[in-house]
Amino acid sequence: MAILGIESVVYGVDDVALCTRFWDDYGLVRADRSIDEPVWELPSGSRIIVRAIDDPDLPPAHFQGSGVRECFLGVDTAENLEKLVARIAVDREVWRDADGTAHFIDPDGNPMGLRIWAKRPVMCRPDPVNAPDHIVRLNQHRKWRMRARPKTINHIVYFSDNYVEAYEFYRDRLDFRMTDHSKANGIFARANGTYEHHTLFWLTTQHPGTRGKRGYAHIAFGCEDVDEVMVGANYMQDKGWSNVRPFAAALNRHRISSAMYYYFPCPAGGDAEYHADSDYLDDAWIPRVWEMAFGATIWGSSSSGFFAHKPATYDVQLDPDEASLEACRHLGKDGKDVPSIY
Ligand SMILES: [Fe+2]
Repeated sequence: MAILGIESVVYGVDDVALCTRFWDDYGLVRADRSIDEPVWELPSGSRIIVRAIDDPDLPPAHFQGSGVRECFLGVDTAENLEKLVARIAVDREVWRDADGTAHFIDPDGNPMGLRIWAKRPVMCRPDPVNAPDHIVRLNQHRKWRMRARPKTINHIVYFSDNYVEAYEFYRDRLDFRMTDHSKANGIFARANGTYEHHTLFWLTTQHPGTRGKRGYAHIAFGCEDVDEVMVGANYMQDKGWSNVRPFAAALNRHRISSAMYYYFPCPAGGDAEYHADSDYLDDAWIPRVWEMAFGATIWGSSSSGFFAHKPATYDVQLDPDEASLEACRHLGKDGKDVPSIY
């Protein structure tokens, strides 16, 4: 049974026109010309759908303001879809559309869906990277890009009151794999039909800065390389979109996942992340457990707050049996184990 990744994400937003301009500027390509319910489609076939916040066809909101109202995971076959639906339906309602799409509510109250997905292969050929004594691009420029054109929806992040239980639900019902555990912070988990480092990440609501948050935090789009990330970021800034976020630099590279990221606050809710050069994994990967700040970023001066470079906190271990989960299962319930990072 294989879940191939995120098939589509449906936003409910205060200002459809503003969000349309954002995603157009971001480099997504429109799949229609609708003014009221615009749709963008990525080369992988994943879609971004924007609707008015009070659209009666959206699932009821469980948070305030604009944000993701439903996320659909793509399944490889009809037979597997039915097997997965049967597992979900053990203890919760599942409702179906005429085309077989299944809807359910996950342990954090997030409306989710499962449907068959003809995911498309994506052709990427990033330029080889030269280094002294490692000449792999001789007499040859790099590509000169004019716009970013994100290729995939790489992952989506949700706030979670109990990220251990959230992960276990997706592991036990939908065959997700834990790839990395950021201690007292969250779990990165990969759908079993993709090599992407994580399809879902659950961020604890037990930090002072995340307490009380519900639903969606950010979405990441796979780009070919750092040039595509930066051309996209430059274009967005030229169009007047702010890259200022409260707790994290717009551009950095995670130590967990190795991915380079560039965030923009998004009028559709949360953040939009340009994402490149991530780790890609299969079932040979052994999960790791990381000290939170050490895993968060590789770059950062000693004065850049939470994201400061902290060599003294070098802390990462293999966690093949997911033993690290137990210590975080009751996180926040006694208020003791939660590092104050925000
Ligand atoms: Fe991300």
